[in-house]
Order: sequence, then structure tokens, then C-alpha cells
Amino acid sequence: MVEDGPRYNDIDMEIDARVEGLLARMTLAEKVGQLVQITPDMTPDLDARLKDGRIGSILSFHDLPRINRYQQIAVEESRLGIPLIVGNDVVHGYRTIFPIPLAESCTWDPPLLERAARVAAEEASAAGTHWIFAPMVDICRDPRWGRIAEGAGEDPFLGMALARARVRGFQAGDLASGRRIAACPKHYVAYGAAEAGRDYNTVDISERTLREVYLPPFEAAFEAGAGSVMSSFNEIAGVPATANPFILRTVLREEWRWPGVTLSDYEAMRELIPHGLAADLKDAARLSMRAGLDMDMVSDAYAGYLDALVAEGAVPVSLVDEAVRRVLRLKMRLGLFEQPYTDETLAAGIVGRDDFRDLALRVARESMVLLKNEEELLPLSPGDRSIALIGPLADNRQDLLGTWAALGRPEDVESVREGMRSHLGDHGRLTYTRGCPIAGDGPADIGAAVAAARAADVVVLVLGESEAMSGEAHSRSHLGLPGRQQELVDAVAATGTPLVGVLMSGRPLVIPRLAAQVGALLAAWHGGVRAGRAVADILFGAANPSGKLTASFPRTEGQIPIYYAHKNTGRPPEGGGTRQFEEAYKSTYLDEPNTPLFPFGYGRSYTTFGYRDLKVETPTVGRDGALVVSAVVRNTGARRGDEVAQLYVRDLVGSITRPVKELKGFQRLTLQPGEEQVVRFEVPARQLGFVGLDMRYVVEPGAFKVWVGPNSAEGLEGEFEIA
Ligand code: GLC
Repeated sequence: MVEDGPRYNDIDMEIDARVEGLLARMTLAEKVGQLVQITPDMTPDLDARLKDGRIGSILSFHDLPRINRYQQIAVEESRLGIPLIVGNDVVHGYRTIFPIPLAESCTWDPPLLERAARVAAEEASAAGTHWIFAPMVDICRDPRWGRIAEGAGEDPFLGMALARARVRGFQAGDLASGRRIAACPKHYVAYGAAEAGRDYNTVDISERTLREVYLPPFEAAFEAGAGSVMSSFNEIAGVPATANPFILRTVLREEWRWPGVTLSDYEAMRELIPHGLAADLKDAARLSMRAGLDMDMVSDAYAGYLDALVAEGAVPVSLVDEAVRRVLRLKMRLGLFEQPYTDETLAAGIVGRDDFRDLALRVARESMVLLKNEEELLPLSPGDRSIALIGPLADNRQDLLGTWAALGRPEDVESVREGMRSHLGDHGRLTYTRGCPIAGDGPADIGAAVAAARAADVVVLVLGESEAMSGEAHSRSHLGLPGRQQELVDAVAATGTPLVGVLMSGRPLVIPRLAAQVGALLAAWHGGVRAGRAVADILFGAANPSGKLTASFPRTEGQIPIYYAHKNTGRPPEGGGTRQFEEAYKSTYLDEPNTPLFPFGYGRSYTTFGYRDLKVETPTVGRDGALVVSAVVRNTGARRGDEVAQLYVRDLVGSITRPVKELKGFQRLTLQPGEEQVVRFEVPARQLGFVGLDMRYVVEPGAFKVWVGPNSAEGLEGEFEIA
């Protein structure tokens, strides 16, 4: 939120003096060169352009000997020797692939995610990457959108906490390579609000929603020191982000005074033409530079037209200088001038290290969410029961890597089948039947699956999506189990053998039927290289699940967008009526309740937790004070477990209507059986405000409700007021 006084003014006098000195010696062509990013294999006359200083960055490139060779041309054969900066998508791991970021977010464990990001930086940096196009911090409340897989779910407060942690991890200062990595939060901004959940589609939201929901994770990333940001493909209220002066100048530079580099997304500048904003590529270059977009990813708009635009007076050279300063400063702060090359012997001892894979296992375990466990069907006791393992993701490696899996390799992945076999050893009776393909009407062996189910004491169904069904340009309008998977479930369920469901997906799916048919249900997501072991550890009780949803599971696509922090409206269904005919003329549907199948913050454990003794220690909170609330959380079950206690508030009356709940705190607790802890939250009053009528952040006096509990749908309730 905008506060007065200088922000992000991390001017490093020594570096800025060096930048000025270098800038003063640069020709216009060399300045433009710093604003050009290309992919080597799609760039003819690359060596010549490097020698002329007309390329500033390369991306999506991992061939280290060639990186060093290109760097040598830039540094030793060009006139000024300005090093290249190499950028890559390292979204949830480089070679050691962690669970997809949406899964990671279900850990609610910022320190753990910082460690995971640091592992990605260690591997990427050792392999010649200087710039990581992550974290993806787009808030998303629409699981039709394939890129929900890459983010941290629906809530800005959690999104801010995880954005800070990931930026700190990516930009860690003591990497083995001896150099730092620059993070690049993306996609700036509101890309996750695409209408109808269709990728690249129009975004038309209010400035207030932009400021309250979609901008905060970027501000948090900048507070953590992120050195760059990537503009998004979408328009916002008619102006595409890549040439949008409001978000690129007014917010970033004037309000936040953020000094980092703005990078376009892939050919986003050229896309201004089909958007209907630019008449041609030259116009796109003009609009983007004037709006404050520093570096052009691959569209060659700047390379082709920026010097002519300056010569014609259509773009002041001062804007080009401003952009070049930011790029040079970034390169200097990364140490690229002092250490432009990467030691090619380094990666062998770093990439794919066992301890990195161990961490990936821990993250996978903590990311999985136990959604149902009737009669304690789980954990399974290995060995004394015959298990029929069924489903198209049970003996699968490739899809467990998930979308944007960088240099991840299927051979590094442990499948669920292997994970379970490692628990059962040779004596365990485990049969495996695929049952049907993930999608399509290809050959299925549902009959064999039914026979296996009949012969077993319990069935473990491993179902869900292929990695190609989520991520960029992979939105889905039907969110049920793809292909013939539900048909498989129906046939296996008819045998009456108890069912355990394991869902491996890149998004929340619409699975009310499956949820009713299984006795236990685990959302395992696309869990990375150790997903199979993590699933087996949880199914056999070696790990106690602690994940909590960060994106609501809809009952049906018709409820979307669906999220916990919704407004109350003038006609809320107060009587708990869940359908129109129970409470006439209320904001409800005729055919479904308003509530999700599984809500934000929800996740079960193999133990149980009780909450009691809510204490609002500050019934009246001063504007400069803080809300202090505590409660007692007790492990009321028979085994140790982790619980994420959550704090929500509701501002009952404001000059702007407020959501029925907003997350304002969370804490992970580890409790032994019978152990209890006092969980205490301190929320500064300045975090209890909102964007007011004048679009400035404001904290208003008035009455609030507060909850402490296990998820967004339940908890101990109290009240307080802001004086
Ligand atoms: C892609 C994605 C972006 C990625 C970039 C470079 O289209 O939108 O997330 O960083 O291009 O690969």
C-alpha cells in the first residue's frame, strides 16, 4: 500500500557512479542493445550482434559452454565489454524439481519455501543462470486458469508472505557460484484475473481490486528486494500491461519508488498489435518505452525501432537512459562485471544433489492436503492388507514434474508405485493396474482394474491431470477428472472395496462424485521428483499430512470465481439456507450451495486439534497499535502433528464494503499428542485497512470480528474495535 516517504530507494552510490560513467560512453545503438533480450537459437547473426553490443540478455538457454562463449564475445570483443545477463524459468526447481508452486503454497511454510527457492538458485546459478523468471505471484480465484498451478492461490496475505520468502531464497547472497541471482516476480499484473479463466484473456477489474488483491504480492516481492519484474500479456481495463503507464510508472516508480528492471513477457510487445493498442511494431516500441517497459523479451521491437524513434523525437533519449541505468545497475549488483563467466565444473557437484532431493521430499509431504479420511481408513498399515493400486498416475513420472519443470527429468522422479513398493518391500501384496489413460478414449483396462479391486482389501486410486493440462495456455472449462477416469472410479467403487483417492493435478478439480465415493482423499498435486515417496509416506503413516488448501475447491464450474474472502452482498443467505427455495430472494443458486466443496485453509491430519480460550487482549486497538489475539491449540489425538492456525478478521462497517473474512495471520505448530500451545497473533492496525474512496490506503475506526481456527470456514470468534 502507498505510504508517504521514500520507498525502495536503495541507491548504491558506488554502483550508480559506475553506471553514470558507463552510460556516458555509450552510443544510442549500444544503449538500445542493453534493452534487447533474445533466445540464441532463434537469432541469426548472433555473434555479430553481440560484438556490436546490440544484445543485453539471453533467455531460455542452458548450454553453459555456449553461454560462456557468448559472454566472452560480449565482454572481450565488444567495444564496452558489458556482460550479458542470462534469464531462465526456474519456477519450482532447476533440475531438482519441487512440487508445483500451488502445492508448495499449501505448506503455509515460508521458511521452507525460502530453502526450496535457494536450492533452485544454487542449481541454476551453478549452471550459468543469472536471472530467474520467478516467483510467479499472480493471485488466482479461478481454477479454470491453467497458470493457477504456478502461483500461491487465492489470498493476497498468504501470497505476500510466500512472495517474500521465495525472493529471499532466489536472491540468497552466498551461493556456491559466488554470484547472486536476480528474482523476477511475475506476471505484472492481475494476469490471474483473466475473464472466464481463459489464458491471455481480458482483465477488467476495479483499481481498488487491483490495489487490494493483485498488487500486494508484487509490493511484498519488492520489499524483499526483487531486482526485476515481468509485465503480463493481459490488458487491464483496456490498456495492456506491457504498455500501461499507470502500473509501470505511476505505481512502480512514483508511488513505490522501486528502482528495478521491468521486462516484458515473451513477445508481449508485439502482441500490442493484435490487442489493438499498437498499429505496428514500431508503434509498440514507442508505446512500451514511453510507458516504462525497460527490456524487450524477444519481440525485437526495441532492436528494430528504438533508435529511429529517438532520432525522430518520438521517444526522449532520457527514457532510454533511465531504462539502461536500471539494466546496468542490475548487472553490476549481480557481480556480472567482475565475474561474467560460470565455472563449467561447478554444476556437477551441485545440480541434483541428494540433500536437495531430500528437501523436495519434505516439501512434497508438507504440500499434500488430506481432504477426507472416514473411519480412519488412512494410514494403511503396510503388509497386513492386500492393496490394489489403480489409476493412470500411479506408475507415472513425467506428469508428476508438473508444468514449467525447467531441466527436470522423468528418470529423477519416483512414482507412487515405486514409493509404495519401497514401503512394502517384497512381502507386501501390491497389485498395479492402470485402468485407463489420463485423458482421451484410448485403450482402457477397466475390467482388469475391477478384478484387482475385488481381490484386494483396499484400493488406492491415483488420478488427476497430465502436466500438459495445467500451466501456460492450458485452461480448462470442464474441471472434472479427465478422460474415462470417473468411469474407472465408478466401476471400481461398485466392487465395495474401500477406496483411497490420491489426486495429482495442477489445480483444484471439480470432484464431488469422487469425494463421495472414496473413504479417504489426498490432494497430492504435481509433487515433483519425490512425489511418489511423499504419497507413500503419507498413505502408510510415515508422514502425517499437514497441508492446507490455498485455493478453494468448487463444487461445480458454475460457482467460479469462488473464494473465501467474498463480499456479503445486500442479500446474504443468513439462515444457512443453501439454495434459493430455502431462503427466497437471497444471493444463492437454485442448484448448488454457495460454499466450496473444500474451503481455503482446509486440510486434515491423522491427529485432531482442538481450539479453545480465544482471548482478544486488545478489545480496542489504537490506529498506531496492534490487534493482539491468542488461543489455545491442543493436539487432541494420538500422534504428533503439525497444525496451521489461522487468524481472520472482518471489518463490519466501512466506507467501502469489506470481505466477510480476510486472512491476517497464520502460524505452524508442531504438537505432541495431548500437548497444547498458546498461539498468539499481533496484527498492526495499519494492516487492517483498505483502499478508500480516494484510492489511498486507509484504516478506519469501527467494529471488527476476529476468528482463530483451522481454516476459513470455522474457528473461535471474538470481536474488537479500532478506535
Ligand atoms: C512465457 C511465460 C513467462 C515466461 C516467459 C519466458 O510465455 O508467460 O512466465 O517467464 O514466457 O519463458
